[in-house]
Amino acid sequence: MTTNASIKIDDKEISLPIMVGSEGEKAVDARNLRKDTGYIFYDQGYGNTGSCESSVTYLDGENGVLRHRGYPIDQLAEHSDFIETAYLVIYGELPNEKKRKEFGALLRTNAVIETQMQRIFEGFPKDAPPMAMLSSIANSLAAYYPELATNNFEKDLQNFDLAAAMAISKIRTIGAMIYRHSKGLPFVHPKDLPFCDNFLHMMFSEPYQDYVVIPEVAKALNLLLLMHADHEQNCSTSTVRMVGSSGANLFTSISAGINALSGPLHGGANAAVMHMLQSIHDEGDDGTRFIAAAKSGTKGNRLMGFGHAVYRNFDPRAKVIGAACDVVLKKLGKSDPLLDIAKNLEQAALKDDYFVSRKLYPNVDFYSGIIFRALGIPTSMFTVMFAIGRAPGWIANWREVASNAKGRIYRPRQIYVGPTQRDYVPISKRA
Ligand code: ACO
Repeated sequence: MTTNASIKIDDKEISLPIMVGSEGEKAVDARNLRKDTGYIFYDQGYGNTGSCESSVTYLDGENGVLRHRGYPIDQLAEHSDFIETAYLVIYGELPNEKKRKEFGALLRTNAVIETQMQRIFEGFPKDAPPMAMLSSIANSLAAYYPELATNNFEKDLQNFDLAAAMAISKIRTIGAMIYRHSKGLPFVHPKDLPFCDNFLHMMFSEPYQDYVVIPEVAKALNLLLLMHADHEQNCSTSTVRMVGSSGANLFTSISAGINALSGPLHGGANAAVMHMLQSIHDEGDDGTRFIAAAKSGTKGNRLMGFGHAVYRNFDPRAKVIGAACDVVLKKLGKSDPLLDIAKNLEQAALKDDYFVSRKLYPNVDFYSGIIFRALGIPTSMFTVMFAIGRAPGWIANWREVASNAKGRIYRPRQIYVGPTQRDYVPISKRA
């Protein structure tokens, strides 16, 4: 097995060590390249750059493999639930009964948003974008619980269990409150309920009439959140790691991740898929127009919910969620014309050479919105749901950064292509 790679720059041959991960993933260790040669590797978007070592999630995009701490996603989807998987992602092992109970209790006792913090919501307009609200209010956890957010790794790690439980539980509560705020409805406080049931209760209870949780709905929500629990070094998780690498506390780092997630090419895609399907439905189109536009190659016209930065075969999450779509709608006795449109669109794209040759397949967002919709969750809240689901992954990755005694601040280089040195011109002499 090769242990070194060599590159030749001018006449100088440089030997770079090879690193191998536990699943045989290989990397050339270029940490000393610039120091030794003055060169850097150019890799816009970091698609070929390993920014860290991590033991949270293994992903093989070519073969559609996704495992959390070694457990395949389809096994977790079938046998686990969101909170157990969150524990696994954060702490590295499936919890035994005692630990599972303690974790659940910690989440329940930290679910509420205190009265003073509730006042933040009043400052936001009713039609404020939910993700902008979520990131601001998630960051304000650092202001309300400064003892858990000291920006000192050692101290913040001592309080990690509590901060992590707060992040998971309160972000879920904040999500439900954002929805109530947008509707002009009074907030509903959390009760002593399982995680997803509590969310549904806080979203949909009426004054004097508690929402009666339909087991199928809670189960489907559990599945969707679990499916989003972590996904290796995606844009938002890398953002959390980058912000965390400066020493920033957990809440602030997660808030940055929420902002990264809000973009349409990342977490915002689930809402974009629904807008696309809805406009196909409203126009009575069969999707041909969207497919033709997507093939034009312009970014603004992409077929939303299709393609993935790393999956080149299929997205294993899309398989599970796509199959769950039919089951959930059937159990709830609902039909959705958008599901038929999505299926037709998928079939058409999968036969089209443009998509086939580029290995573009449905991703996790293609079908998740249809289930969220069936559960009564409005499209404007879809990315918030994604954020609630992704919190465990952000937390686990922040912890790796904070615990790495040899870690350094994330600070990539660039190739400068601007003007070379020139002399300052007074304003009166400028053209
Ligand atoms: N529709 C049409 N064309 C596409 C699409 C799409 N959805 N996705 C990629 N392409 C094209 C690219 O334009 C490129 O074409 P070219 O070779 O002619 O230049 C080619 O396919 C290869 O693109 P990739 O390198 O695979 O795409 P990239 O890694 O840059 O982007 C991304 C990945 C952002 C997910 C992209 O596929 C996309 O925009 N998809 C739609 C948005 C979406 O669904 N995002 C959710 C991703 S999953 C998640 O974040 C949870």
